[in-house]
Amino acid sequence: MPLTHTRDLFAKALKGKYALGAFNVNNMELLQAIIEACEEEKAPVMLQISKGARQYANPVYLKKLIEAAVSLTTIPIAVHLDHGDSFELCRECIDEGFTSVMIDASHEPFEKNVEITKKVVEYAHKHNCVVESELGHLVGAQFDEGEEGGAHSVSGHYTVPEEAVKFVKETGCDSLAVAIGNSHGAYKFKGSQHLDLERLKLIKSALMDAGLGDYPLVLHGASSVPKELAAEINKYGGKLGADTAGVPEADIEVARRTGCTKVNIDTDLRLAMTAAIRKVFAENPKEFDPRKYLGPARSKVKDLVRHKIKDVLCCAGHAFD
Ligand code: G3H
Ligand code: 13P
Ligand code: ZN
Repeated sequence: MPLTHTRDLFAKALKGKYALGAFNVNNMELLQAIIEACEEEKAPVMLQISKGARQYANPVYLKKLIEAAVSLTTIPIAVHLDHGDSFELCRECIDEGFTSVMIDASHEPFEKNVEITKKVVEYAHKHNCVVESELGHLVGAQFDEGEEGGAHSVSGHYTVPEEAVKFVKETGCDSLAVAIGNSHGAYKFKGSQHLDLERLKLIKSALMDAGLGDYPLVLHGASSVPKELAAEINKYGGKLGADTAGVPEADIEVARRTGCTKVNIDTDLRLAMTAAIRKVFAENPKEFDPRKYLGPARSKVKDLVRHKIKDVLCCAGHAFD
């Protein structure tokens, strides 16, 4: 079975009111864990590859691994470039057959972000690929307080609903990653900080009111950083800070219901893998067969993916809709 187009996965997810899990792939075990969980739970899936993953694993290895996954399963699989940082990288991935790319020029001023995104959209659309872009800065919630104008300031870091409308109209991008207090990694919030879900609703309805329909939004930084995983890592010799914090899964559910059609998860996979490997080494320091620690790591990542797709994203059971 060939890859399934991102466009088709999005259309079905919007109709079915579930979110697609977009899981980062860096090696064979991560890929197998994701695919096995999605296969068993009959979930469609987006595999995302970052620039760093391409540098780590080599684009050809990743392509061949994904080809193997596609040939061994019947679930719909789309392949997406995560955080493409240039037109050239996006073009490379489009030429390699990715079904979607993200151009992340969100650090640029609005007009420059539009210009770069538009260039990628033009090329992508000519080559049957769709484009995710980002507006706002994923600096997390720490800038939510104390700044002049705070999160609601146009010069602030959060996505402004009216700007989102202008951006989508001017660029023609197919989905938009929003900044609503989300950030990458294992230290997302301090104290009682959380996602600005009210803003998410405003962004979604502004796009709808502007005639852009049920426009797909993307939530980056959606790992929940489970306390038990951090505790397990530390129990077996890790040194994660006491202030690890992720997005509560209840918030992800609200985000899903509010129109986040693609939900990006990487850190939780890394934590699960690390916890399993540390446990093997701590309990059996004489072990040196990689299969004996990568096997349990793969199983733990699989359990985590299964939980996300069933209990949080609600895409389980939708593979063959
Ligand atoms: O958003 C970042 C993703 O977690 C990918 O991370 O650039 O280290 O591969 P990476
Ligand atoms: P996390 O760091 O929360 O897993 O976010 C991953 C992500 O957004 C990849 O683009
Ligand atoms: Zn991201």
